[in-house]
Amino acid sequence: MSKLAWVHFNSAEEVAQAACQRILKIAREAIAAHGRFRVVLAGGTTPEQTYRLLAGAQADWPHWHIHFGDERCLPPTNPERNSRMAELAWLGRVDIPPSQIHPIPAELGPEQGAADYSQLIGSALPFDLVLLGMGEDGHTASLFPGHRHPANSAAVAVHNAPKPPPERVSLNAATLGNCRHLLCLITGASKQQAVAAWRQGKPLPISQIQPMGRTEVLIDSAAWNHHSKP
Ligand code: 6PG
Repeated sequence: MSKLAWVHFNSAEEVAQAACQRILKIAREAIAAHGRFRVVLAGGTTPEQTYRLLAGAQADWPHWHIHFGDERCLPPTNPERNSRMAELAWLGRVDIPPSQIHPIPAELGPEQGAADYSQLIGSALPFDLVLLGMGEDGHTASLFPGHRHPANSAAVAVHNAPKPPPERVSLNAATLGNCRHLLCLITGASKQQAVAAWRQGKPLPISQIQPMGRTEVLIDSAAWNHHSKP
């Protein structure tokens, strides 16, 4: 059972700074231990500042291997694509070999994208680090409350997502949890209710991700509902 640590910061900028330092440290340790660093990136807007900080950092980039936790079914260069955001903020500005950056082919549609990515993921497990954000309803990656997915495919097709666009591809909960470290980045007052529900033990998609390793939630004071009791 993984340990879950809530780590508090005063601002989203401090969360981004801490996340950047943790990612670089976990990468150094992974490369020293087994010659490569396998990381799954989060989408949405929260991680963008962390990615910008990584773009300015020194790291052993040729040993980094990038996967994505989820993707919207849009053309690869669409600005709403999670892979496009990561490329513009970070990946396009450091020397990670393009062959080691694995965007989800969600432009093929949910079923084909999930089938293709499931093939690819097998050889990348366990991940050294999975980064996750959290939506206001407690969703993470593109795993939304009330949606059911087959447990036996690493990546799954998502339809009727409540957060646009409706069609997506997502790693499933077991695959996201197949990692040595899990780092969740949560900022902003809009996340307070989902954070309180998580602390109260409500079964949210994000709380179902239970790696064997260490889980840290880096959270700013705006997202932490000071009045709610766990
Ligand atoms: C996506 C993300 C999604 C995101 C949360 C939080 O494709 O939208 O994968 O899971 O992490 O919705 O989004 P924000 O960081 O923008 O609040």
